[in-house]
Amino acid sequence: MTPPPVAGSVISTVNLVKIYSNGGVPVPAVRGVDLRVEAGEFVAIMGPSGSGKSTLVHMLGGLDSRTSGEIWLDGRRADTLGESAWALLRRRKIGFVFQFFNLVATMTVADNVELPALLAGASAREARERRERLLAELGLTGRADASPAQLAGGEQQRVALARALANRPSLLLADEPTGNLDSRNTRDVLRLIGEVHRGGQTVVLVTHDARVAGMADRVISLLDGQVVDDGTVGAARRRPRGTAGDVVELRG
Ligand SMILES: Nc1ncnc2c1ncn2[C@@H]1O[C@H](COP(=O)(O)OP(=O)(O)OP(=O)(O)O)[C@@H](O)[C@H]1O
Ligand SMILES: [Mg+2]
Repeated sequence: MTPPPVAGSVISTVNLVKIYSNGGVPVPAVRGVDLRVEAGEFVAIMGPSGSGKSTLVHMLGGLDSRTSGEIWLDGRRADTLGESAWALLRRRKIGFVFQFFNLVATMTVADNVELPALLAGASAREARERRERLLAELGLTGRADASPAQLAGGEQQRVALARALANRPSLLLADEPTGNLDSRNTRDVLRLIGEVHRGGQTVVLVTHDARVAGMADRVISLLDGQVVDDGTVGAARRRPRGTAGDVVELRG
């Protein structure tokens, strides 16, 4: 087996390409992305609508297949995995927040959040405790017994984040986790993501919001499926913890 392109990186892609087909017409969505994310990094992905952000993070989570190129996760080749191997990998390591929530409609909020932990082998008590803590942090304690359809869009989005974090994933992939939220809920979500990041988990977050991106260590800009800017060059975005711009400022 060829060695990983960058041993030690949590995510590494090599010339990653996704071409959809729309009634036989090829639609290039991701066009040769070489991406590297190190352990514990918080990376924001920005770019206009249609630039390929969702497609890229879906491929990184094994939710969409690549057309060509390579994906390496934790130094292991991942793009060649089958669906069940991907499912196992996600269960063990990856939390995913979808742009459009994808909650299980027939389950309560509490069950939606507990499910990933139970699937990964947590005890019922552990799963319940984690669920209670996450819902409390996101201001959703009173909604535990509701079904997703009874919730506002912003509430569903916060439930989706709680679900993604229920397994304490080493990698959080979040597609517009604050896209539908008012400023107070945005603050709750960012505070929680900031805690996740400070706890050493790796975060890759798609956003249109420059303020959200300002929390990241690095901002990658996509345009027409290609990386056109990588924020490690130019203005240094990494700030000492607790200074202006860090999540601490967003509290309260
Ligand atoms: N299932 C699909 N079939 C065909 N084309 C698709 C499909 N999904 C996405 N595309 C196309 O791929 C391109 C990239 O879409 P993608 O959803 O990744 O963009 P995005 O950056 O996430 O946009 P947004 O900011 O609106 O969420 C677009 O041209 C889109 O129309
Ligand atoms: Mg998208």
